[in-house]
Amino acid sequence: MTSGADERRDLWSRYWATGIPHSCGTTYEATYGGAIGTFWREAFSTLAPVDRVLDIATGNAALPRLLLSARPQLPAACDAVDAAAVDPDWLRQLEPQQRQRLHVHGGVRAESLPFADGVFSLVISQYGIEYTDWPVAIAEALRVLAPRGRIRILAHHAESRPVMLAGHEIEHTDWLLQHDGLVDLAAGMIEPMARSASAQGRASLATDAAANQLRQRFNDVQTALAARLTTAQCPDVLHEVRDWVAQVFRLATTGGVAAGTQALDQIRRGLVDSRLRLTDLRRHALDEVTVRQFCAAIGQGGLHTTAVPLSDQGHLLGWAVCAEPMN
Ligand SMILES: C[S@@+](CC[C@H](N)C(=O)[O-])C[C@H]1O[C@@H](n2cnc3c(N)ncnc32)[C@H](O)[C@@H]1O
Repeated sequence: MTSGADERRDLWSRYWATGIPHSCGTTYEATYGGAIGTFWREAFSTLAPVDRVLDIATGNAALPRLLLSARPQLPAACDAVDAAAVDPDWLRQLEPQQRQRLHVHGGVRAESLPFADGVFSLVISQYGIEYTDWPVAIAEALRVLAPRGRIRILAHHAESRPVMLAGHEIEHTDWLLQHDGLVDLAAGMIEPMARSASAQGRASLATDAAANQLRQRFNDVQTALAARLTTAQCPDVLHEVRDWVAQVFRLATTGGVAAGTQALDQIRRGLVDSRLRLTDLRRHALDEVTVRQFCAAIGQGGLHTTAVPLSDQGHLLGWAVCAEPMN
């Protein structure tokens, strides 16, 4: 595994450890409604009790969760793999009978699956398999697919709304993290903020030209942020960072410089992680050409494979890929 792969594994491990249910932002509930939910419910509707399902690049197992809620009485078992260290909390709240149906395997790469040949009746992946070395991962998926098995994939589409929103969020993140930008200036403000907690500190600030100059620059960047918010698409990250920085300053006045610095470092790391995830999302999205290659790779397994754009309320969300036995 390359160090890039290690970095991605750790970054996704940190992301899933926060307990977030899935990677689609706050638009969808843990068990999906809308067109995505309909796509998956339809895929699960024909499962038989003896069937086994495999979810590739499962994250916090959003699809297995949807499967359990869509077919609560069905004993069909589900394995779910991810390269990251995943251990979703929600599994521990399941009834024992449901819990037995589901096996989540963290630290398992889709390019090398620890399963015997031909055991899964349905292989699924949501915004997942396209992140892998997918010609290899598809060959692996075909290897473990049972005779007459099916594949359903929702993959990122190069022109979709998530890809477009990721582009805006990357721009905002770069703006926040730029040299002498909001995060840098906030770091400089932590010490004066901590000092302002005491009367003596406030007195010293009144005559501290450097601190006052820094405060002016910070106020200017706050004004620029307010202006950016009036026109920004996908402004959540701007709102969040503004609020978090206010919390950092509160922390600095109550807990001192070290506490404020630690909190701001965490914000900075979170932004850097998020930027990497969003960049990967855009990089792995499939365009018209690559989705044809993707379908052709699945077709190697003798499956009739189609990819159609999936939209919800006028927003393009991805490619719905369906692969079925020929007859
Ligand atoms: C966008 S998330 C999707 C997670 C989940 N399917 C969902 O819809 O919430 C992409 C996932 O792909 C995983 N991943 C990336 N490369 C992988 C690989 N080679 N093998 C297995 N998982 C991989 C990441 O660790 C990450 O959890």
